[in-house]
Amino acid sequence: SSSTLEPLIDKNFLVIAHRGASKYAPENTMAAFKLAHKMKADMIELDVQLSKDGMPVVFHDAKLDRHSNGKGLVSSFLIDELHQLDAGNWFSIEHKGEKIPSLEQVLKWASGKIMVNIEIKKESVGDLVEGGVEEKVIELVQKTGMEKNVIISSFDYRAIERIKTIEPKVLTGLLYHKKSSSKRGPEKLLRDYRADYFHCSRSEMNKKWRAQLNEFGKRYLIYTVNKKKQMEKWIEMGAYGIFSDKPDLLREVADQY
Ligand code: G3P
Ligand code: CA
Repeated sequence: SSSTLEPLIDKNFLVIAHRGASKYAPENTMAAFKLAHKMKADMIELDVQLSKDGMPVVFHDAKLDRHSNGKGLVSSFLIDELHQLDAGNWFSIEHKGEKIPSLEQVLKWASGKIMVNIEIKKESVGDLVEGGVEEKVIELVQKTGMEKNVIISSFDYRAIERIKTIEPKVLTGLLYHKKSSSKRGPEKLLRDYRADYFHCSRSEMNKKWRAQLNEFGKRYLIYTVNKKKQMEKWIEMGAYGIFSDKPDLLREVADQY
């Protein structure tokens, strides 16, 4: 299928709905993604891990307990079993009946409509490339014609490296993590894993790194920002994108620039 979206690379700034419009609807559900689109987000962010039968599903925590009526590890249930769970009632009674989506379902909906940041959770990253989560994610991105409209990110740098090997056209975002980075700064990390963007928490980003990225000609994205003043600050400091649970507020702020 073909996409009517302008390629990701052509945007000046990305309003990214963190787990969808997760302040107003249960995170990582179709309700949260649809609302983000309605609020004019450029991109939705979602978390992906594998079901017991190896299907990419959209859920943040390793365990089902907090954000569904299931119990135990996501990876110990078949996709059909996960689809039977309720992922909305924990948030509010009005959202009872929301399901845990498969990645395929979200990408099919998003195609031609909104860009997607697919975060591959480290729980599902294995030792082998063949048949691994990276191959499965790329296959779905290709199937839905979303190659130019996704950023694939991970805290597990093996996944970042593998994505570029499997499909060099797809953009990747390296999620900074102090432990995995072993004192390397953004430039070295992006080079080492051939990543396109540096994704960083707002508390860890600093002046030195911003200057370094600027010089190196690479862009950074900041998570998670829900306050107006902070949104303004990061836009003024040149962030390429901001992840927010409140995409409506971020859209309003971004449109003023
Ligand atoms: O991708 C940014 C952010 O989503 C990473 O942290 O825990 O919300 O997945 P987390
Ligand atoms: Ca995430």
